[in-house]
Amino acid sequence: MINRQLLTLEQQFKASILTAVQEDFLKQKQIELRLKRDDLIHPIISGNKWRKLKYCLNHALSLDKTTLISMGGAYSNHLHALAFVGKSLNLSTKAFIRGEKPAILNPTLQDLLAWGMELEFVSRSDYRVLRSFKTHDGLANLKSHEYWIPEGGYLPLALQGVAELVTEIDSDYLVICAACGTGTTLAGIIESVSEHKQVIGFAALKGADFLAEEVRNLLPETAKQKNWQINLDYHFGGFAKTTPPLLDFIADFEQRQGVALEPVYTGKMLFGLYSLIQQDYFPPGQKIIALHSGGLQGKRGFQS
Ligand SMILES: Cc1ncc(COP(=O)(O)O)c(C=O)c1O
Repeated sequence: MINRQLLTLEQQFKASILTAVQEDFLKQKQIELRLKRDDLIHPIISGNKWRKLKYCLNHALSLDKTTLISMGGAYSNHLHALAFVGKSLNLSTKAFIRGEKPAILNPTLQDLLAWGMELEFVSRSDYRVLRSFKTHDGLANLKSHEYWIPEGGYLPLALQGVAELVTEIDSDYLVICAACGTGTTLAGIIESVSEHKQVIGFAALKGADFLAEEVRNLLPETAKQKNWQINLDYHFGGFAKTTPPLLDFIADFEQRQGVALEPVYTGKMLFGLYSLIQQDYFPPGQKIIALHSGGLQGKRGFQS
């Protein structure tokens, strides 16, 4: 059963529609590409954030937890959504932030503080240790009123919320793509799509060979054998790194399609997908859905 407060919050959300991407080269290749616009569902809890958090929050509330604790980088979309959700649900929030406290807080960190999140800056080595706590009660020294949400919402319960975005898709398609950080969103998609569909993740990190294993660990046995893969070729130098061709691609895409992208996740995924289509990776007639997982607040880190 879903908690009443969560349902009330969700009622304020807008529909995540499908929008067609119109490009001459797609017509030539006879490829139909649609975006699943999770970026539109909420101005702050946008994209995959709500999908991943919904059932974890429901669990925390069912256990009468009053504090949510998580971790992330200084521009984390996940923490941004969590802080806002915590404030909306009257829950306290705390976050471990990777790296030293900057002299001037960036807009994301300012928002976290404004929404009442307690911030603790930790060294990169301590951050790596925190990454190893992968269950809701797994954080060392967790108090009884606290609920731990691992980096990026990497909990099996997150998959249930992601499944809802898949079941909303009322159009025919064979391939579905998503950007990958922790791989939680991809795991939710893999678990919920029907057997004959192909799922492609695009890693935002460099050298993310470990990611497939992380995804497999979240998947139930029955889903591990489905048709899925993670493309590791479009990281553009590493997490949150960009190159002029990537930034040009994003600017052109925004101008032509009227859809904003950010360079950490969705920009890289769509650049990668466009390249695969141009290389005839998909046969003519293929119908593809790409998840727009939001995260546009993080773009502020690239405009200063
Ligand atoms: C905008 C956006 N897209 C995709 C992802 C990747 O999600 P995941 O960590 O579930 O792989 C993230 C990170 O949560 C994100 O902020």
